[in-house]
Amino acid sequence: MLGPVLLAAARSDGIRRAVSAAPVTRSVVARFVAGEQLPDAVAASAGLAARGLGVTLDHLGEDVTDKAQAERSRDACLALVEALERAGLAGDAELSVKLSAFGQALPGGHDLAHRNVLPVVEAATAAGTTVTLDMEDHTTTDSTLAIHRDLLTRFPATGAVVQSYLFRTEEDCHALAAAGARVRLVKGAYREPAAVAYQDRRDVDRSYVRCLRILLAGEGYPMVGTHDPRLIAVTQALAARLGRARDAYEFQMLYGIREEEQRRLAADGHRMRVYVPYGTDWYGYFMRRLAERPANLAFFARSLATR
Ligand code: FDA
Repeated sequence: MLGPVLLAAARSDGIRRAVSAAPVTRSVVARFVAGEQLPDAVAASAGLAARGLGVTLDHLGEDVTDKAQAERSRDACLALVEALERAGLAGDAELSVKLSAFGQALPGGHDLAHRNVLPVVEAATAAGTTVTLDMEDHTTTDSTLAIHRDLLTRFPATGAVVQSYLFRTEEDCHALAAAGARVRLVKGAYREPAAVAYQDRRDVDRSYVRCLRILLAGEGYPMVGTHDPRLIAVTQALAARLGRARDAYEFQMLYGIREEEQRRLAADGHRMRVYVPYGTDWYGYFMRRLAERPANLAFFARSLATR
């Protein structure tokens, strides 16, 4: 019951201001976010890379309200690419970007987001790394996949994300697998209506397995984004049955979540990549992590109560 309330709060400016100003929040947020500044992100990436883990970095920000903000998001990503190259991390760390941070929701937003993401993908490619387009709520799926398709023609390593809670995703997986793309499969983190998405967790999981099978049997590079132990076991079994070598797919998990399992999978010879968010605009990301797991909310509430 709490999940939908928290996801609604994730989009409320009033609650954003109150939570962001609470003195205790930052120390709690630090569990999920690598830091507020670029050097924090680079240091976290270097630490993970030293332990044999790949990284995908997210400069936090979403739902920008004007073009200048969208351009600042683009510039922050360009600075990130430069910093990764300087630190010698471009081989280990890629970028994850949200097109709403590049203006997708503004008037003319599809073209604006496309224009803003292009130089980031160009710079990343020149530096020897890649970009994955995060997926946001279902109203953005067509636009994001269209921009991904266009980028693929010049930058074939550009990644896409699909969400197993959406009814449409099996079909999207067929198209992406045939295109040979890098595809991250996740359950989905937004509040979606019953007209477009499964509402029961078991249906979301069953859809995840169907999508997984399509991607693992296809021509692309599947990126299995989940912390769910059952889905990790299913992935390993399916990959073995379909003859996918361990370097022909990867697992991905979020920074600060199931870290021991991240290390265990890497030590076991699996490719493991950690999604590392950083920046000052952590509110929406943080609220989605609370919504996923009531235990996280209890942790947050306890730390408020002990101040
Ligand atoms: P589930 O939520 O069922 O969790 C399984 C187990 O994992 C839990 O029992 C618990 O042990 C642990 N766990 C899960 N979430 C936790 C949390 N927040 N805190 C502590 N423990 C937790 N979504 C989206 O809509 N668009 C996107 O682009 C992305 N991108 C993305 C990248 C990567 C690398 C990951 C791992 C996830 C995303 N997501 C996402 C989020 C995704 O949609 C989903 O909300 C979360 O991964 C949680 O779902 P699980 O598959 O982990 O399963």
